[in-house]
Amino acid sequence: MTSEYWENRYQTHDMPWEKGAPSPGLVDFLATHRELPRGTVCVPGCGTGHDVREWAQAGFRAFGFDVAPSAIRLATEKTRAAGLQATYQLADFLRDEPPFQFDWIFEHTLFCAIDPKERDAYTRAVQRWLKPGGQYLAVNYLIPDEDGPPFGTTRTDLWNRFSPEFDLVEELVPRSYPNRTGLELLLWWRKKTAA
Ligand SMILES: C[S@@+](CC[C@H](N)C(=O)[O-])C[C@H]1O[C@@H](n2cnc3c(N)ncnc32)[C@H](O)[C@@H]1O
Repeated sequence: MTSEYWENRYQTHDMPWEKGAPSPGLVDFLATHRELPRGTVCVPGCGTGHDVREWAQAGFRAFGFDVAPSAIRLATEKTRAAGLQATYQLADFLRDEPPFQFDWIFEHTLFCAIDPKERDAYTRAVQRWLKPGGQYLAVNYLIPDEDGPPFGTTRTDLWNRFSPEFDLVEELVPRSYPNRTGLELLLWWRKKTAA
C-alpha cells in the first residue's frame, strides 16, 4: 500500500479504523502502570493521533508518524484543540531513519495495515527506531483475513517474529472497541541489549 493509497482513504473518508478514541487497551495499560518512568514514545501509523494524545496526557514525550499528509494535519489540529503537546511528522516507518531512538514504540493497527510481504521491514524498523532496552507495546489484531487491509496474524507469527530480539514482559487480552472484543492481543516486549 502506497502513501497515495492511504491519503486517498483519508480524502474519501473511508476510515473504518477511526473510532474517535484511543485504543481501550492502551488506556487501561497507562492507567495500571502509573509507575513507569516517563520518556519518549513513537506511534507509527498514528492516524488522527488518538493514541499519541493518550501517551501525551500520561506525561510522555509523544511523537506520531504517518505516511498520509491528511492524518498528520488532522492529528496536529486535534492535539492543538485538546491543549496537549505532541509532535507529528510525515514519515514512512518501514523505510525512513528515526529522528532518534525512542524509549517506547506503540503499535496499534499499523502491523495489520501493511502488506504481509513488508512485515520483515516492519520488524527491522521496530529494531531501528527503538533504543536498546526500549519497550515495544503492541495491541495486535488477531483476525484471519488474508485480503486486507486489515491483514490477519496469529500469536505464533508474532512470537516467531519478535522473540529472537525482544523479551516478553507481559501478555494479555485487552479491553477493546466493541467490534474487536476478543480479537486483540496486547504484547509488551523489551528490546534485548547487546551482550
Ligand atoms: C488502519 S490505519 C490506523 C491508524 C491509527 N493507528 C488508528 O488506529 O486509528 C493505518 C495507518 O497507518 C498509516 N501507514 C501505513 N503505512 C505506513 C508506513 N509505512 N509508515 C507510517 N504510516 C503508515 C496509514 O496512513 C494509516 O493512517
